[in-house]
Amino acid sequence: MADNNHKPALFSHEKIETSNFLMIVLTLIVVSFGALVEIVPLFFQHSTTQPVAGLKPYTALQLAGRDVYVREGCYGCHSQMIRPFRAETLRYGHYSMAGEFVYDHPFQWGSKRTGPDLQRVGGKYSDEWHRAHLNNPRDVVPESNMPAYPWLEAAKVDAAGLAPRMKALRTVGVPYTDAEIQASADDVKDKTELEAVIAYLQVLGTAVK
Ligand code: HEC
Repeated sequence: MADNNHKPALFSHEKIETSNFLMIVLTLIVVSFGALVEIVPLFFQHSTTQPVAGLKPYTALQLAGRDVYVREGCYGCHSQMIRPFRAETLRYGHYSMAGEFVYDHPFQWGSKRTGPDLQRVGGKYSDEWHRAHLNNPRDVVPESNMPAYPWLEAAKVDAAGLAPRMKALRTVGVPYTDAEIQASADDVKDKTELEAVIAYLQVLGTAVK
């Protein structure tokens, strides 16, 4: 005989599996617990939160160059993330470490590599090589399919915009001093965007030898 008064207890299998709401809410709780256990400890680990020894915040000029790098979408073809595999470290150098990126907001890791990884490109070429390469990559690498960026040499760095950006970075933990922020406009005065990008490229990955 059917039991007309049958009422499943709250949180019984039957109740959960026949209620969309309960199923969704409880699934979210279970999944976020897994995420918490995996992710939260990283916030308290020195190797992922502290700068590696020798890491300095970008100078005003390097920072301006980084902004140009982001604006031009260089990350669309270049990663800055050397994975800990032999094929990568033989080609690019020491694998990337979290502590190298603590002053990068946002980081430029990426995974798309139409061109080579750039994380350790600092010091690999002369400024003059970069100048020629960015103006027209084919002049130094004949088979290159990288676009040319001839306008960088003609454009001046936005000097007045640097102080507010450095202040914003300070609020997220980059240790800029008041003096550095005040001097920023003078530091980049009359510099071209090309000089700024080169200054940025030349410091990439150099904190780790
Ligand atoms: C459409 C893809 C593409 C974009 C966008 C691009 N590149 Fe490249 N880049 C390449 C390719 C391919 C190479 C390898 C050939 C060469 O050296 O030109 C390269 C090489 C380089 C190298 C030399 C790396 C090495 O280790 O030899 C540097 C430095 C570089 N690019 C910087 C930049 C910068 C800065 C930007 C943005 C202003 C940029 N690239 C945008 C494709 C791209």
